[in-house]
Amino acid sequence: MRSKDLITLEETSRGELRELLEVARELDSGLHEQPLSGKTVCLAFFEPSTRTSSSFELAAKRAGADVVSLSGGGSSMSKGESVIDTVVTLDRLGADALVVRHPSVGTAALAARHTTASVINAGDGAGQHPTQALLDLHALSGAVGGFDELEGRRVAIVGDILHSRVARSVIPAFQAAGMELCLVSPPTLLPCEAWGLPVLSSVDEAVGWGADVLYALRLQNERMDGEVPAVPSVAEYAAFYGINRRHLRPGVLVMHPGPVNRGMEVSGDVVLSEQSLVPDQVGAGMSVRSAVLTLATGARQGVVA
Ligand code: NCD
Repeated sequence: MRSKDLITLEETSRGELRELLEVARELDSGLHEQPLSGKTVCLAFFEPSTRTSSSFELAAKRAGADVVSLSGGGSSMSKGESVIDTVVTLDRLGADALVVRHPSVGTAALAARHTTASVINAGDGAGQHPTQALLDLHALSGAVGGFDELEGRRVAIVGDILHSRVARSVIPAFQAAGMELCLVSPPTLLPCEAWGLPVLSSVDEAVGWGADVLYALRLQNERMDGEVPAVPSVAEYAAFYGINRRHLRPGVLVMHPGPVNRGMEVSGDVVLSEQSLVPDQVGAGMSVRSAVLTLATGARQGVVA
């Protein structure tokens, strides 16, 4: 990693991705014992989370770190303390890494300016979610036979791209790994810039385009304001943007960062099917997050190719 912090994957290089996934693979195979021994990792989650917070916690503990967990309601932020004051407090308590999730874009970057600890962005509003994209790459590399096998694969990113921090990290990371992308989204849930990528209007079209991977995103209802719903109805959304059995041509893989709205984004019988990587994505989280914490805190020096 180029810096002590992991805030965004917008400028990430193929070499950095390869290095990180290599360390994750080494951790998977038990090569580095407790690389974070003697380090303190603080988890500061100010937005709900199941898999990200528990996987960071397990990742840090298994790698030997001491772990302190804060949550919005259980910290002095509920008494009005600012993000900066909270970060400075954790810094002076000796945190080596702060893992930050917050509903506002830019919070992790702000935190990083006020501490010498490594700051890992675990999701900032509709900004970035870098470790999600890294674990996705790790799970996908495992499924296709290695990082180099990702090159040239076609991936359709499907759903609520407008509000998705996952999409904003996955798009640059998957492109850096050499994959070809298209977007599949209702016009109301597509950002205007659309990264210059082809935009298709249904999962059927994405299958026709030759997608090897269908990557579904959750509808981020909590980030939609205004009274006019972004999608007319669940049934209509599912008809065009829901992934179901008929899309599973041989070899096509399905991904979703979770939590899944079954029947809407992905049909219930596909979520845990043999062509779904959803459980593997969760499983990849621990080693990838241990690798991120290990490299960011300097517990293992990395060499970027
Ligand atoms: C994502 C998140 O919170 O950004 N989930 C996750 O981290 N596994 C995606 C989502 O909530 O839609």
